Amino acid sequence: MIPCQRHLFDLPDDVAYLNCAYMSPLMRSAVDAGTAALARKAHPWEITPDKFFTGSDEFRATAAQVLGCSADDVAIVPSASYGIATAARNLPVKKGQSILVLAEQFPSNYYPWQRLAEGTGGRLKIVAWPEDNDWTAAVLDSLTADVAIAALPQVQWASGGRLDLVRIGEACRKIGAALVLDLTQSLGALPSAWATCRMACSQISPSLPATSGCSGLIPWGFSTSRPNGRTGFRWKRIGFSAPTPAISQA
Ligand SMILES: Cc1ncc(COP(=O)(O)O)c(C=O)c1O
Repeated sequence: MIPCQRHLFDLPDDVAYLNCAYMSPLMRSAVDAGTAALARKAHPWEITPDKFFTGSDEFRATAAQVLGCSADDVAIVPSASYGIATAARNLPVKKGQSILVLAEQFPSNYYPWQRLAEGTGGRLKIVAWPEDNDWTAAVLDSLTADVAIAALPQVQWASGGRLDLVRIGEACRKIGAALVLDLTQSLGALPSAWATCRMACSQISPSLPATSGCSGLIPWGFSTSRPNGRTGFRWKRIGFSAPTPAISQA
């Protein structure tokens, strides 16, 4: 148990706020960083081209250290759905193959796969809500040879049920399935989430974790991809508004 961290947040004494699954409070340090970023934009003439990417490059390098990959594998994305849609644009699915999702999965990690399945002749394979709430066992049962992509969260958002991503990652590697993770509800909230994500993703290529800033305690959306192996891919730097990117093959 960590000591009380209340001072890190702007929480009045008479408020006990527990509903982070709905929307998390920003830490004071995140509010300060956001305010500084807004103020910077008030003087755009001071943001010279050589300074345009410095903050984002620093962020990507720091995230890479925690995730055990290189800064080039990390992209800052405006939402979880953007990161996941990018994965869906780049991961191959053949006719008859399956994309595994959970029952009542968050829409950001559902609709891109539904569209991909429709467009490729693939099949959306939906893990039914297990009566005992053991999502790990239910996913492992469903990870059969037909699965090309497992698109999963670490925590099923509607039930709070946790998935053991290390065991699921091992099972994906055995069948050669890609692993795409929506970590919005866990990264920064579950103490083990970073390490678990690193372990799960180090076993598989390609693997792509994405997160959003709205729930959980990470105020930024970002995605990573692991470019090891023939099927790996690399993010291209997208400096300005662009359609959901196709990623160059590594
Ligand atoms: C599980 C989960 N994924 C993703 C999101 C946010 O998705 P997006 O960033 O695409 O809006 C939320 C927000 O509540 C969420 O609970």
